[in-house]
Amino acid sequence: MGDKYVAFRLRSGEAGVMDEACPHRGASLALARNEETGLRCIYHGWKMAPSGTLLDAPTHPADAPLHEIKTRAHPVHEGQGIIWAWLGEGTAPQFRPLSFTDLPDNHVIAATAVVNCNWLHPLETLWDVFHAQILHNQTNRNSSRGNAYFSSSGRRTDSGIEFDYPEMRAHSTDYGFAYANHDAAKTTHFHFIMPFIQHHAISPGAKADKGLQISVPIDDDHAMLWMIFYNRHTPLQPDGFAMQNLASIPNLNNFLEELGERTADNRWGQQRDAVDRGESFAGFGGKKTTLINIFAEDLAVIESQGRVDRSREYLAPVDLALVKGRKTLVDAVKAYERGEVPLGRDSDLTAIEGGFDVGASSP
Ligand code: FES
Ligand SMILES: [Fe+2]
Repeated sequence: MGDKYVAFRLRSGEAGVMDEACPHRGASLALARNEETGLRCIYHGWKMAPSGTLLDAPTHPADAPLHEIKTRAHPVHEGQGIIWAWLGEGTAPQFRPLSFTDLPDNHVIAATAVVNCNWLHPLETLWDVFHAQILHNQTNRNSSRGNAYFSSSGRRTDSGIEFDYPEMRAHSTDYGFAYANHDAAKTTHFHFIMPFIQHHAISPGAKADKGLQISVPIDDDHAMLWMIFYNRHTPLQPDGFAMQNLASIPNLNNFLEELGERTADNRWGQQRDAVDRGESFAGFGGKKTTLINIFAEDLAVIESQGRVDRSREYLAPVDLALVKGRKTLVDAVKAYERGEVPLGRDSDLTAIEGGFDVGASSP
């Protein structure tokens, strides 16, 4: 949200997040010395505890301590390889548990990366379920879930791409909204949790791995994506979606690293000759895992959207969840401005997760 923070782990093991600017004269605390009980600014040696308390100020005489000074520190919760920080004002609420946050580490895998677009774009692309039938058509067909993703009848064909036209459903919930995509091959269920958590549907079966994505705003044009997969029933298995897609990724702290340089200048690495030869619908891919190939496709479209002027869009019935998502956010902001409790703040989220049912059952 445009603010700069320093995240650190003290030698004691304690993790912390505080404002990056030193409270003395603003030097970066990302340059600070990591000392046993706090961060010491390298400029004039002020030392701050993870709570924000000033421990030491060499600029001041020993008999004039600065007890009153505190930097803005942000309470953290750590688990499953993720450090959550409370960035709000006032007293931090209780950590709000999600469906995976009570699981042992071997039931969960998390990966993160920065994308060069507004934080809403990754969410909107998950609300926009239908694009998986077009943009990801070939990648999905080539993946282990391919047979579950497309019907063998009832297809529509445009430009050589065969897809199933879905019926979308969406309804409001006390945590945000829920939506479903129902077509000839499957019904997939999704849940959006305010303000930026999206449970999606990754593979069929009640006991299969589940997934969610979190899109954390950095500023108007950058977001930090979290890709989290988990299984409540068993430790993650080598043949499950999570390990098939994330176990071979060399750097889970930047899971997009293997895509290399990808910008507007090189058209996000699009291989137009592969498109011309009919080998690829969109011209991305060629990496080891389905997930990375899907992300290569997603990144090109969500970053190329730039700063979206939503008044110039032409939406269709398949965009129902997209409209619901935007309306949910706008209504929640208005309610907050009226002084109401933020939507979803007190909801029990521990049973909320995505689903993927194969077969043309009723939606
Ligand atoms: S700016 Fe950090 S101690 Fe002076
Ligand atoms: Fe996508």
